[in-house]
This record gives sequence, structure tokens and C-alpha cells, in this order.
Amino acid sequence: MSVHIAAKAGDIAETILLPGDPLRAKFIAETYLSDVTCYNEVRGMLGFTGTYQGKRVSVQGTGMGTPSIAIYVNELIREYGVKNLIRVGTCGGMQEHVHVRDVILAQAACTDSSMNRHVFGGYDFAPIASFELLKSAYERGVEKGLNMHVGNIFSSDMFYRDDTSVTQLLMKYGVLGVEMETTALYTLAAKYGVNALTILTVSDHLLTGEETTSEERQTTFKEMMEVALDTAIH
Ligand code: ADE
Repeated sequence: MSVHIAAKAGDIAETILLPGDPLRAKFIAETYLSDVTCYNEVRGMLGFTGTYQGKRVSVQGTGMGTPSIAIYVNELIREYGVKNLIRVGTCGGMQEHVHVRDVILAQAACTDSSMNRHVFGGYDFAPIASFELLKSAYERGVEKGLNMHVGNIFSSDMFYRDDTSVTQLLMKYGVLGVEMETTALYTLAAKYGVNALTILTVSDHLLTGEETTSEERQTTFKEMMEVALDTAIH
């Protein structure tokens, strides 16, 4: 057992899906996995292990924001030997050509989080996706005919912001969408020499103000999950 995860050694698979919402983790486990066991209920941050097409896969809620995901990713890698971590989440669209319901594969993550400033003594670190996971997810998304984008995203500490000058500047630099966790995931994956990828569906839009209905979110979520699971088992 680690500080925030009640699993025993061996309870968690080498490959894990990471939704922010623990109830999403439960839904994913119940909908897509067979022979499911729940290994964590600490703080309601549910974690499950099961099989997908015969391969062992886990799914763990991470909560929102870099401090929360960093706790779970640290413990998953250091205490449970997890090697492949795939975040499945939502983001706000930041380009005209990126539409709600599209899928974004996060190649890299900008941030306003100060976490890496502390770690790297004021210098910048460029957190990037695992090329192998990115390539595999991209190929699977193309096969499925998804409206998919690959590129830079923004991991922000603020969901609500008064001053939009930063997001406007990042839009000029081609950043595709905003979420709140990937910078920490990619930095920790680099630190420990493991593989990480973030796959996002666009749930709302900073430029157009578009939002998705819960039914639309469900359809896009299904497409993203199929790409994530197929990537996880290859
Ligand atoms: N996740 C989904 N939409 C978001 C937004 N607009 N900002 C930050 N995180 C998000």
C-alpha cells in the first residue's frame, strides 16, 4: 500500500488509463474491462484492474490539476511499477480548426504551473509525449476515421481566469487546447523513464463558446476510449 493507493504489490497492471474523474474510472472498468477488481477506494479515488482483449489493464482516477495527478502518477510508477500511462480526459478547444467533439493527442504541454520552475531551478523543461504511444494512438485514430489533431496543449492551474491574455498568446503559437494535468504526467514519465500519452476530447471551446451535450460527450468519449484501449494493448 502507498500513501494514497490501497493496492498490494502486483494488483496494478503495467499499463494504466488515467481519467480525472474517479466515477469515469468505474464506468471505464465496468464498460470495457473483464474480470474487474477494485484495488483502491482511498479518498474515493477509485482504481480498477481488469483485462481488455486478454491483456491486463488498470484504470485509475487522478483528480483535477497537477498536484493531484502528480500524487497518483508518482505512486503508480514508484510503488507499483507502472510503465505505460495514458490520460483520457477533456479539454477546451483553442483553435478555429479544432471543433468540439474532436480528439487531440497531446504531443507536448505548456503550463502556467510553477511545479517545474521549482524542480528545474527556474529553467524550463519541455514535457513531451512518448513517441511510441503517440504514433500508435495516431495510427489507430486514423484507422477509425476520427477528427483528430496532434500538437501542443496548455496545462493550466486555472479553470476560471479573469485575464485571458495568456490563452490568447498561446492560441497565436498554435496551442490546440487547454486542460489541467498533462505537464505533470509527462514530466514524471520523463523522470522515471516510462511512457505517457494524453488523449483528449474537446468538450468546450474558448473561441467559439461551443459546448457539447452529455449525449455528444458520450459518443466522443467512446471513440477516444477505443483509441486509448487499443493503444494500451499494443
Ligand atoms: N477541461 C475541459 N475544458 C477545460 C477548460 N476550458 N479549461 C481547463 N480544463 C478543461
